[in-house]
Amino acid sequence: MTGLSIGLFVVMVAVTGAGMLFRAPLEPVIYHDLLKVASCKQRLPLDTLIANASASNPVAGRPKQLRIYDDADSSTRVLLSDNRWYYVNPCTGEVRGSEDRYGGLFGTMASLHSFQFLENGSVVAGTLALTFAIVLVGGGLAVWIPEALRKRRRAVRIKSNLTGRARWLNLHKTLGVYVSLIVLASALTGALQSFQFVRDALYTLTASKPPAPSPGSVVQAHTQSLPVEALWQRAQALVPQPKYARIRYPGKAGDAFNIDLVARDAPHVNAFSYVSLDPRTGKVLRFTSYAENSLGHRIYLTALALHYGWLSGGFIQVLQLIGMLSVPVLAYAGIGSYLRRKRPPRAPVSPRTTLTLKVARKKAEAENIQSFELVDPAGKALPPFTAGSHIDVHVAGGKVRQYSLCNPPGERHRYLIAVMRAEPTRGGSRAMHEHVKEGDLIDVSAPKNHFPLVESARHSLLIAGGIGITPILCMAEHLAGLRADFKMHYFARSPARAAFVDRIKRSKFADHVFFHFTEDQKQQRLDLAALLETHDAEMHLYVCGGEAFMNAVIDTALEKGWHKTRMHREYFSVERRESDSNVEFDVTIASTGKTIRIPTDKTVMAALADCGIHIAASCEQGVCGTCVTRVLEGEPQHRDVFLSDDEKNRNDRFAPCCSRANSRTLVLDL
Ligand code: FES
Repeated sequence: MTGLSIGLFVVMVAVTGAGMLFRAPLEPVIYHDLLKVASCKQRLPLDTLIANASASNPVAGRPKQLRIYDDADSSTRVLLSDNRWYYVNPCTGEVRGSEDRYGGLFGTMASLHSFQFLENGSVVAGTLALTFAIVLVGGGLAVWIPEALRKRRRAVRIKSNLTGRARWLNLHKTLGVYVSLIVLASALTGALQSFQFVRDALYTLTASKPPAPSPGSVVQAHTQSLPVEALWQRAQALVPQPKYARIRYPGKAGDAFNIDLVARDAPHVNAFSYVSLDPRTGKVLRFTSYAENSLGHRIYLTALALHYGWLSGGFIQVLQLIGMLSVPVLAYAGIGSYLRRKRPPRAPVSPRTTLTLKVARKKAEAENIQSFELVDPAGKALPPFTAGSHIDVHVAGGKVRQYSLCNPPGERHRYLIAVMRAEPTRGGSRAMHEHVKEGDLIDVSAPKNHFPLVESARHSLLIAGGIGITPILCMAEHLAGLRADFKMHYFARSPARAAFVDRIKRSKFADHVFFHFTEDQKQQRLDLAALLETHDAEMHLYVCGGEAFMNAVIDTALEKGWHKTRMHREYFSVERRESDSNVEFDVTIASTGKTIRIPTDKTVMAALADCGIHIAASCEQGVCGTCVTRVLEGEPQHRDVFLSDDEKNRNDRFAPCCSRANSRTLVLDL
């Protein structure tokens, strides 16, 4: 949060600072009429220019400062007490206009950059600059350096394979490392200007003396002052033909007249020589050439030149510009990363696709199996679905369970699901059986289909085991509607435990259906072997039921020569492996570098949740795919039934609700 709030102010300082870097070359172009004049050989006396500036606005008050440039075509600038600069043609004396000291494009940027709109704004700006330098840049490097050393990398690289928060953080760190020195230099030189204590620290470090204060006048205050032009000529006798000069009027009667000049051979445009004159006699009270300034003060002047982008021409200016413009990108990437961390875990079902439906009918379909007819409370049409679709149902206690739709796919007025009370239960089916009543409202997702029909198949073989009848029944309804060639085999222990038997027997596709009621596993295998014996390349097989039943069907089909591309299955649940075979391993969060030990008795998802890292989940047993997460390094041990074999072989994703690791560490894209 510190970074977030300071960062927003720092972005403003950086963006305005980037603009200010090019003030010197751009200002004469943008404000050409004010700043540029036709050159001449003979300038008018400064007193004439000052008088004209004052006359242009009689209420503007007394002069405070003058700025004189040696370019023959530059206006002379006079600052009056109204805090406006008056631009005067030094050749003709014409006042070309005036502008508020912190007005116009660059004046406004200067005001924002140094917080001139606040009392003691430069102190605020300096505090921010120092905080930025110490907390953000220092803190950022403190986070980065150990990581870089640990990974033996010289610099962070932009990793194109990252997504989400990891991508933003990687961008933030990488950019931060490359521009940190530039940004740090700008922040520290800015603080040098804002704080006397920072300057004092510089003078102490360099064993230097600060410049002597401006001397007072030795002549009585009531004595008439010399013309400014005469004082200006006296200063030029000490520093001939300066590149630039600023004349600072005495603050009060009796003070010296100070003229700061940049000599023609000065190393940069902030390398001032200082002249203090008695305004009434012209006597030189103090003269310090740039070279005579103490080392500390010369460093200070050079640091300011660096801060303003006046040093060494374009190259450093461009570097500074890159540094300053990187600050908003850093802030954006940092804030983006922060917000992604703060954002609550993604809901298993997007709110846009969540429907609140009324339980219009609850009916016992078989032993331990209840059906639920769900309708829109206002009677509106429901989103359409295709054969094989399921919906996520939000049951009590925040659990989400997947149930296949078993009404004909053309229906829009209802969704029909059937729920078998599982033993042992994880709570979802029990809640549906015991707590959901007719008239209740429940939240469900829009239909999703992970088990679609291949409608181009010449023949379809549908095999249902127990409650696996639900998607298979929907498929049979659809294929019958298409008048497609199909057969359906329904395995159950007994008619009493088989749902929808009457509906099937009364259906128009009843003659396509074969019931197999047996508790005898051996008989089941014989039946499966017989019905999978005959097949051709145009036939597709669909199976749904318990994991053991589906494995038996798929294994038998493979034995009989079915190609796996023609076999399709839908899991309801998978049998959990005992944790005896589990081994401990580590998970590293790519975005933060944090490493978390996964114990043998916890899933990755649970162990991460203990550390405050929540992954959206739904089935929590590797069926639905909601929790699937990208793996950047390491080899997962896949235990889900959601990913295909090809997807599992790629090892770049895994289901943390059930899968573990074959390698000692997994690096996750979180
Ligand atoms: Fe369903 Fe992990 S939560 S696969």
